[in-house]
Amino acid sequence: MEGNAAVLCGLGAWVPPRVVSNKELTTALDTSDEWIRSRTGIEQRYLVDKGMATSDLAVEAGKRAIESAGSPPIGAVVLATTSPDRLCPGTAPEVATRLGLVDVPAFDIAAACGGFMYGLTVASSLVSTGLSGHILLIGAEAFSTMVNPQDRSTAVLFGDGAGAVVLRGGEPGEPGEIGPFDLGSDGGKADLLAVPAGGSRQRFVAATGQGLADARPPEYFLHMDGPEIFRNAVKRMTSSSRKVLDQIGWTPDEVDALAAHQANLRIVSAVGERLGIPQEQWLTNADRVGNTLTASIPILLAASAAKDLLRPSDRVVLTAFGAGLTWGSAAMTWPQITPRIDVIP
Ligand code: ACO
Repeated sequence: MEGNAAVLCGLGAWVPPRVVSNKELTTALDTSDEWIRSRTGIEQRYLVDKGMATSDLAVEAGKRAIESAGSPPIGAVVLATTSPDRLCPGTAPEVATRLGLVDVPAFDIAAACGGFMYGLTVASSLVSTGLSGHILLIGAEAFSTMVNPQDRSTAVLFGDGAGAVVLRGGEPGEPGEIGPFDLGSDGGKADLLAVPAGGSRQRFVAATGQGLADARPPEYFLHMDGPEIFRNAVKRMTSSSRKVLDQIGWTPDEVDALAAHQANLRIVSAVGERLGIPQEQWLTNADRVGNTLTASIPILLAASAAKDLLRPSDRVVLTAFGAGLTWGSAAMTWPQITPRIDVIP
């Protein structure tokens, strides 16, 4: 008989095959490898080719997470994404069907880079209800399709990819248990990071000008106030992580791994320093993947576990922040788990 604590039992990740270096970006943008590395720590990212969508990435990561869990029956699929295949309907039902999961509940969560932490909280709650059995949670993004390829202030930051976890019911205190959680939002700062047009507020209008590769006016792409986002990201991830640490009763030097959203390495460093968690415990791979939004934390976890940087019974703090604004954190102990990941970024 399974208990109602949510326990991590499957982990997988997948990135698209095309690697794009900083140097390659300099052919089309007025930027440099030096600028990108020094401001963000990013050296390369994986990007989708034309024709590849978020659901394609989600299916690959989901398949691997289910295999990693030993292919149990899956009772529900939750997909955290900022770049759904279509405005309507949600992408999760299609992903579930393509994974052979017929008739299961499947829905999207839209909380931008905070989305994986929102998803983890919702998926854990589903486990606790006992209604759904094993839950598949995927974070997947083809967000490069929403970034203006001619805007150097945003185009260099993001990468595409997907990561996924499977949660099961278990006993309180067993390795792999996830919680406590902290979530928050501040819609008063929504404009700091937004794609203004294309929804019900600023509706679609046909482009009249020429120039952009696919003729989309600039308001259909991401707009960002970088420095303000930086400040808010550091503030919110730090305070949210502290709440979780207080709740679980761990001191910063008792934390074995900090899995912070990989927006960029400067943000991760600032959060790690303010929390007082020693640098050796910060997990990082933004240099290899860039900012993959909702996919960031599960790709980081899969890559870190594959590199043996996460070991059974490790005390882990997960924290993320994104557009909305949204943020969220959780504590967990690391289980005995073998991630499924082909390319380890
Ligand atoms: N190449 C060269 N120069 C650039 C580039 C580029 N790719 N992008 C901007 N610049 C220029 C700017 O035009 C500006 O020039 P100016 O001084 O002549 O006006 C100069 O560089 C400095 O720009 P700043 O924005 O002040 O640079 P900053 O040190 O703040 O770094 C950065 C910019 C990296 C975007 C930083 O603000 C940041 O990390 N912000 C957080 C952004 C983020 O992570 N967003 C992701 C989504 S939210 C999340 O995941 C947390």
